[in-house]
Amino acid sequence: MKKNILAIIGSASSNSSNLRLVEQIALLSGNSLNIEIYEGLQDLPHFNPALSVDQPPEAVQLIRQKIEQADGILICTPEYIFSIPSGLKNLLEWCVATTIFAQKPTGLITASSNGAEGHRELTRIMQTIDAKFTADTSLLINGIKSKIDLNGNLREALKNQLIQFINNLKKMVDEATRHKTF
Ligand SMILES: Cc1cc2nc3c(=O)[nH]c(=O)nc-3n(C[C@H](O)[C@H](O)[C@H](O)COP(=O)(O)O)c2cc1C
Repeated sequence: MKKNILAIIGSASSNSSNLRLVEQIALLSGNSLNIEIYEGLQDLPHFNPALSVDQPPEAVQLIRQKIEQADGILICTPEYIFSIPSGLKNLLEWCVATTIFAQKPTGLITASSNGAEGHRELTRIMQTIDAKFTADTSLLINGIKSKIDLNGNLREALKNQLIQFINNLKKMVDEATRHKTF
């Protein structure tokens, strides 16, 4: 059965190479993964700890539910000013008081001009909220704009990396769903 992956794209740009990357991942994964792209990142209210536990806003409840229900999560993001973009950080802050990421199979992609600092930060945050990922489901892609064009055509080497990444993520999701107790 197809596994459901929720993709969260950190870019604030409508013409995002990270978005194109996720679209190509969806195509390359063929019939093995069903990838839903979360489109509400820019509309999430600013994190407010006073509301997070007892009165989370509707949009926050919705994304928490989507994360909880997905078999796996894919975060694909650029680096902004040596960090993760504020919209993505905001979403993750809304998740800190919950356990929705605990042992959730997760793929982490930072696709940026450089991206090393942002990827390190993303890795640390996702460890802190106990997401399940390994080096095999984590990918840093630098020089992204020279590796994917506006139509989504990928450089061959990146395409091969993505195929491997998809297989690794699928394996992790399959193993986690096999061990799930109901
Ligand atoms: C506000 C802003 C800050 C950026 N800061 C960095 C940075 O610190 N490191 C980096 O590698 N790229 C940085 N970039 C460039 C982005 O990585 C690059 O434009 C990338 O393609 C954006 O991804 P996207 O096409 O999915 O939006 C920055 C871009 C913006 C808009």
